[in-house]
Amino acid sequence: MTNEELTALRTANIPRGVPATAPVYAAKAKNALVTDVEGREYIDFAAGIGVMSVGHSHPKVVEAVKTQADLFSHTCFGLVGYEPYLRLAEKLNQFAPGKTPKRTFFANSGAEAVENAIKIARYATQRPAIIAFEDAFHGRTYMTLSLTSQVSPYKMGFGPYASEIYRIPYAYCYRCPLRLKYPACGCECAELLRDAFSKHVNADEVAAVIAEPVLGEGGFVVPPAEYMGKIKKICEEHDILLIADEIQTGIGRTGKMFAMEHWGVEPDIMVTAKALGGGFPLSGITGKQEIMDSVHPSGVGTTFGGNPTACRVGLAVFDIIESEGLLQRAAVIGDRVRERFTALQKKYPVIGDVRGIGAMVAIELVKDPATKKPAGDFAKAFRAELYENGVINIGAGTFHNVVRILVPLTIEDDTLARGLDIVEQTLAQTSASAGCN
Ligand SMILES: Cc1ncc(COP(=O)(O)O)c(C=O)c1O
Repeated sequence: MTNEELTALRTANIPRGVPATAPVYAAKAKNALVTDVEGREYIDFAAGIGVMSVGHSHPKVVEAVKTQADLFSHTCFGLVGYEPYLRLAEKLNQFAPGKTPKRTFFANSGAEAVENAIKIARYATQRPAIIAFEDAFHGRTYMTLSLTSQVSPYKMGFGPYASEIYRIPYAYCYRCPLRLKYPACGCECAELLRDAFSKHVNADEVAAVIAEPVLGEGGFVVPPAEYMGKIKKICEEHDILLIADEIQTGIGRTGKMFAMEHWGVEPDIMVTAKALGGGFPLSGITGKQEIMDSVHPSGVGTTFGGNPTACRVGLAVFDIIESEGLLQRAAVIGDRVRERFTALQKKYPVIGDVRGIGAMVAIELVKDPATKKPAGDFAKAFRAELYENGVINIGAGTFHNVVRILVPLTIEDDTLARGLDIVEQTLAQTSASAGCN
């Protein structure tokens, strides 16, 4: 069938609430290239929202799937256990930041992992409140949607939301909530957490602060190096747990296995998903043993969590990251993308900010670099033209004016360069049609 015929089939069967970025339907994919049903090849600059870090159809992933499919596909880990689940938990416990002994269990999606992390934090502390950040994204189930900040499209019309959630600004330097400048500011915005204990909720009632070490959907906002350490210290002063949402940043994306390593912070609980399952639904909840073991037997769990195929693929993902040096590769990719964007920023004032860490790089588009008014319309047109020009891409940002780059960490040099050339040509094209140089 053609893309057009499949779009008709979609319209006849799928509700319009399900995201539809472009009328493109995949037939096959290999590493960083996706071929559609009409044989057109696309460069994948989105990796299924940061999932395909080891590329599409990596031979070791394919082998893991085939091996497990031949053995068995499901028992429910709670009824009959299996080794891939245990080995993958062991890996996460080993790699999780900090030296405190860890425990891990698995769920199916990022949102489900966050749900479990909140349950455990509340159980372990016997406190009700959670503090989340502005511009944060934690998922679309009711608890996680309540933690998510962005209104459009996520929260519009879906209320009421969960209670006992409080929100403070993140260290978004380009749009500083205190209108200060780093480093002269001394990272004052971390103190907003302390203020929250007077303005919003008694510290003794707070179970956890949940933070993305780098904002994902919020637009790849990288906090100053000392920010997370300051947040952790304030948490410790009040026996509040720090939950790191590493769903987008984790498993090598930022050049470290987990982004919290950049900040030298050991979270009390960490959630992972996306790249962990190498394209299969899998999420992990990893935490300090004492906290994780506080929950009574059978207090957490799910039918499909830690599916054997997904776990075996997860082990292959760790193997690929280690054997192919993908942490170092993430840094190299990031440097190349950042260099290109920084050069483009000099030519195109619509690029207000270039930022990111490792292979997590974004541009924030603005109508005017002085006012920083978000250029959401430009971003939309630019992204659509990028698709037309053969680059699968993804937006971000509370104001829909960020374009983020999430390539597979296995992308070949020439494919990356080709993709960046298309980004550059498309920027010229969109700028010309928008009437800005
Ligand atoms: C930081 C973060 N947390 C949670 C989620 C939710 O994950 P899922 O879509 O697998 O439920 C996402 C998804 O984009 C995410 O980026």
